[in-house]
Amino acid sequence: MTGKLPKAGTIEIAPSILSADFAHLADEIAQVEKSGIKMLHLDIMDGHFVPNISIGPVVIAKIRKCSNLFFDSHLMISEPQRYADDFIKAGVNNITFHIEVVPNPKDFIKKLHDSGISAGLCLNPETPVSKIEKYAHLADMILVMTVHPGFGGQSFIQEAAEKIKPIRQIVGPNIRIEVDGGIDAQTASIVTKLGADTLVAGNAIFGKPDRAQAIEAIRKACVSAAS
Ligand code: DX5
Ligand code: ZN
Repeated sequence: MTGKLPKAGTIEIAPSILSADFAHLADEIAQVEKSGIKMLHLDIMDGHFVPNISIGPVVIAKIRKCSNLFFDSHLMISEPQRYADDFIKAGVNNITFHIEVVPNPKDFIKKLHDSGISAGLCLNPETPVSKIEKYAHLADMILVMTVHPGFGGQSFIQEAAEKIKPIRQIVGPNIRIEVDGGIDAQTASIVTKLGADTLVAGNAIFGKPDRAQAIEAIRKACVSAAS
């Protein structure tokens, strides 16, 4: 599948390629694709909004040719509006941007929808829920950062995860709530109980030799937490 964000109501695990081996990206993606996931999380960093630089549209256009997964791009960049068309052209299916750099996101969300892709609204650990309240219902997904963005392999911030509950109350059941940062089988259970349904995991998947097993461990933790 490519096109559409999986409809809310299912648990989806989105491996973040930030922790993959970039010298063998096509193989790394094929490995996680085989294990039945639908979404792939692409972390875009500009060295300005966050203190790190990752990949851009050139790399995404290349991996688009090797995968049918839903490309969930997370733009950790200061000017997401300026570069959105380049990412859309490269083949992303979703753009998630930060409320900290797009304080009035209504028009941008509409632009993304008019371009045929879904829109995610992201908030950093220190950003209060009140900042997204007015716009949350316009987005397809809310991304709650549970680490300070910029690097993979950091420790989960529990207080940031606590925002999931009030956000779920605001958006209801039909908008996805994604969590990003420090997710493994243990923290997956915590965030699922709080109301998240979309879990990004980098280190907990690509840091393990058996990716299928790592994904399964996270999935199992979510299923038992949800029941
Ligand atoms: C952090 C990125 C994350 C990161 C998650 O800034 O947005 O997507 O890759 O990595 P882990 O799962 O290792 O915390
Ligand atoms: Zn991310």
